[in-house]
Amino acid sequence: MNWQRHHLLDIESLSAEEITMVHDTARAFREVGSRAIKKVPVLRGKTVINLFVEPSTRTRISFELAAQRLTADVINFSAEASSLKKGETLKDTARNLEALNADIIIIRHSATGAPHFLSRFLNASVINAGDGAHEHPTQALLDTFTIRERKGKIAGLNVTILGDILYSRVARSNIWALLKLGAKVTLCGPPTLVPRVFEKMGCRVTYDVNEAVADADIINLLRIQHERQRKAMFPSLNEYASLFGLNRALLAKAKPDVLIMHPGPINRGVEIDSEIADCERSVILEQVTNGLAVRMAVLFLVSGGKGPQEVAA
Ligand code: CP
Repeated sequence: MNWQRHHLLDIESLSAEEITMVHDTARAFREVGSRAIKKVPVLRGKTVINLFVEPSTRTRISFELAAQRLTADVINFSAEASSLKKGETLKDTARNLEALNADIIIIRHSATGAPHFLSRFLNASVINAGDGAHEHPTQALLDTFTIRERKGKIAGLNVTILGDILYSRVARSNIWALLKLGAKVTLCGPPTLVPRVFEKMGCRVTYDVNEAVADADIINLLRIQHERQRKAMFPSLNEYASLFGLNRALLAKAKPDVLIMHPGPINRGVEIDSEIADCERSVILEQVTNGLAVRMAVLFLVSGGKGPQEVAA
């Protein structure tokens, strides 16, 4: 199978084969990072624009570095210093970037569907770097890549996602990717943040955190998305931490080889104790490292790359 997509907008519309192709391409690109000269010329002459209208550390920097490693020219758009502040619309902003011959526009926006909207009128490739509470596809691709590299498979694994599911785009993209790849997904957190409607996607929902961690091969922790919550969803952060935070006592109830994941940014002492975030079972920084290879793969594939077989050449 060859890659066919010009945009990467979500995980929901991808097949398991396409997700696996991104993983395989990322594995091929990861080797580039260990070379003395960490560059390959596959995007030479292409222009990549990071159009981030919401804050980001990991996603923006790793897309920038990924584009540089592929020898593209990269522009970082700063929303705060842009004409969006003067009332220019997102559509006009994007069309102006395309008028400057942008080949790939990577967008993060608080509005669900913003990347899909741009993809309807731009000729440039559009990559979703997070749209509201909807999806964050490259995060799910790097998370599932990390699981596959560590565990050697995904099908049949028990993955528990613990925290604010309702407002999390990471949760939605991970659920789609994990289910397509054959994992069993358990969601846990306060009932206000983990509504049973997620069972319709094919997940197990439980409010018993001990049960949620007991048979997990992976525990993926999510922070409370205060920026998207319109009202208090639980009494206090202290209560949340004591009931749902991953601490030494709760981790003792999990399998000895469980992997601890977190997309970042971490709120230490809330969803995860500091010592657990830094313990040997945590792969949180490995996720960041893998994100670079995954984003190189995505940039390569939406630019016309056919798959991992083209990387070695
Ligand atoms: N995981 C993630 O999206 O982090 P940033 O918000 O820092 O990009």
